[in-house]
Amino acid sequence: MGRLRLGVLVSGRGSNLQALIDACADPAYPAEIALVVSNVAGAFAVERAQRAGIATAVLPHRDYPDRAAFDAAVHERLTGAGVGLVCLAGFMRLLTPGFVDAWHDRMVNIHPSLLPLFKGLHPQQQALDAGVRISGCTVHFVRNEMDAGPILVQAVVPVLPDDSAEVLADRILGAEHAAYPLAVRLIADGRVRVADERAIISGGDWRAAPMMVPGCGP
Ligand code: GRF
Repeated sequence: MGRLRLGVLVSGRGSNLQALIDACADPAYPAEIALVVSNVAGAFAVERAQRAGIATAVLPHRDYPDRAAFDAAVHERLTGAGVGLVCLAGFMRLLTPGFVDAWHDRMVNIHPSLLPLFKGLHPQQQALDAGVRISGCTVHFVRNEMDAGPILVQAVVPVLPDDSAEVLADRILGAEHAAYPLAVRLIADGRVRVADERAIISGGDWRAAPMMVPGCGP
């Protein structure tokens, strides 16, 4: 069977994209990046993709009359590249319901908190304000509600007394770079199904890795 073809949507520095590029560099990894789409010209993520010899499409959203037209253009590029899974990786645009529905259970996002806590902007500052002792990141299937959808993988980090939002963000980012490639691998290996809006992972004994728990399943 061929590798799962990923379309990665980015807007910024692209460190999660880099983690996926690095994972895909292993021929044994079950996915490959078919296309990177950026809505921001000059995003460092685009440079990372080009450096790795990956096809890129820069579609500045202001070139389109409305969100639907922009999303239609992105959709066309993704389908044209034979993408099977869309990975949002620091993509700073809200997607229209039409787009989200078209990629139902075929689009994932990573968010730097343990969802459903701290949705939306500045989740690291939200974690500090709440005084929680642990935080982390979540990879989840995308739904129309922001930062919601069946959870694939969560990775946990401590929140330390002296943390600033930046320091905590960096620590969480390290966890993100492990969690995202793991979640994509689980999907690409055909081990994920969604039932009652929960992602169920088959196979594997996750008790050995209690800090990164992708969820149910023996
Ligand atoms: C990450 O923290 C991710 O969780 C959030 O946006 C940030 C993107 O960082 N959705 P990068 O562009 O992947 O470095």
